[in-house]
Amino acid sequence: MRNVTVVGAQWGDEGKGKVVDLYSSSAKFIVRYQGGNNAGHTLVVNGKKTVLHLIPSGVLHPGRTCLIANGVVFDPTVFFEEIDSLIASGVFKGPAHESVKVSERAHVILPYHRQLDKLREETKLKGGKIGTTVRGIGPAYEDKVARRGIQVVDLLRPYLLHNKLERAIEEKNVLLKHHFNAEPIKLEPIFQACVALGERLKPFVADVRGILVQAMKNKEPILFEGAQGTLLDVDHGTYPYVTSSNTIAGGAMTGSGVGGQATGQVIGITKAYTTRVGTGPFPTEIETTEKTTAEEIRRIGAEFGATTGRPRRVGWLDLVALKYAVEVNGLTGLAFMKADVLQGFPEVRVCTSYKLNGQTLHDLPSCIEDLESVEPVYETLPGWKAYDTKGVRRAEDLPRELRDYMKKVEAFLGVPIVLLSVGPGREETLEISDPFR
Ligand code: IMP
Repeated sequence: MRNVTVVGAQWGDEGKGKVVDLYSSSAKFIVRYQGGNNAGHTLVVNGKKTVLHLIPSGVLHPGRTCLIANGVVFDPTVFFEEIDSLIASGVFKGPAHESVKVSERAHVILPYHRQLDKLREETKLKGGKIGTTVRGIGPAYEDKVARRGIQVVDLLRPYLLHNKLERAIEEKNVLLKHHFNAEPIKLEPIFQACVALGERLKPFVADVRGILVQAMKNKEPILFEGAQGTLLDVDHGTYPYVTSSNTIAGGAMTGSGVGGQATGQVIGITKAYTTRVGTGPFPTEIETTEKTTAEEIRRIGAEFGATTGRPRRVGWLDLVALKYAVEVNGLTGLAFMKADVLQGFPEVRVCTSYKLNGQTLHDLPSCIEDLESVEPVYETLPGWKAYDTKGVRRAEDLPRELRDYMKKVEAFLGVPIVLLSVGPGREETLEISDPFR
């Protein structure tokens, strides 16, 4: 038995929720290590729809412990909304805090982070809008690296919290007043709210790193659940059109305090096509070039954000970008999602290189200006007819054209597809090999 890390191999929304749900049955601990409630998974629990943004979707499996590690930016209000909704759905067999733990080192998202995120997006500063989820993610990470952040442990220690908030708010008010022409924030109501949240949070707070070390000593399998996607990584993504954390597999180490060997098999999740929400370069986007196909894929694939409801931009599978994801994450396997969405299209395309100023590029250019200007070079493959996705038990049950499409991807990337998803249901999945074994 070993550990597994799942990461988004594209721009997020690859279907990590489904993979985490499936793999959670093999894991004892499920860990969120970066990002915050900018992620979103829609799940159906006992016939009731539940959308989780912060708590790992492994929470639906009884007997698992879900950990929110130090690298996450933690919104306590959202956390309790989700906890209450899970309690109402009857998910927890005992007290919720026995199943969910939060690192004392995680940084807290406060109302002023959300306010600044919104103001920055609204005022469209020079350089353009990022199209954030407006959940305060970026401003909370800014405070973390600027060493003026509020950590979960501070909520439990009001005697320290007051001073820390005072320092943070003093700066924010200069920014609000003089830069955004907005009302200044008042310290006391935020302080009081934090103390109340801290009181309720107490039983959930733990030394998450210590729990993981013990789990590894006991050889208990751990699933590290990445949020967002490789190309949204703050260091390796399409900067500045990125999120503010390390979404790549390396983020699991810094974000939870475990050594490199702990992350185990690294499974990259990719859709059979590509989507992106928010602004930024997207070489294989077909919104204007193949408008009808884009609309069809968006409709069939229900490509609307689980967090913000925004329509996702749609494009063909970009193998150049995926090869980059294989490299930066050290992917050992791929989960190939939503292959059913492409069924019925007469032909499908994959991008195998880019053209830039008459030159052929086989790698993702690191300069954003170049990435904005590349032309995708496609290979066109025959599409496959609609088939009974619920009847898929073996690879041989799949249409030949779909198998060829998957072979093309595996050969180009040099990484095996370990899981194929052909629908939202658990039964619409072909687990080709089990990364936990
Ligand atoms: P932020 O994470 O809210 O700061 O947003 C920064 C960028 O990341 C924007 O382009 C968002 O649309 C994108 N983003 C953040 N979270 C997700 C996600 O879970 N899926 C897809 N895109 C995301």
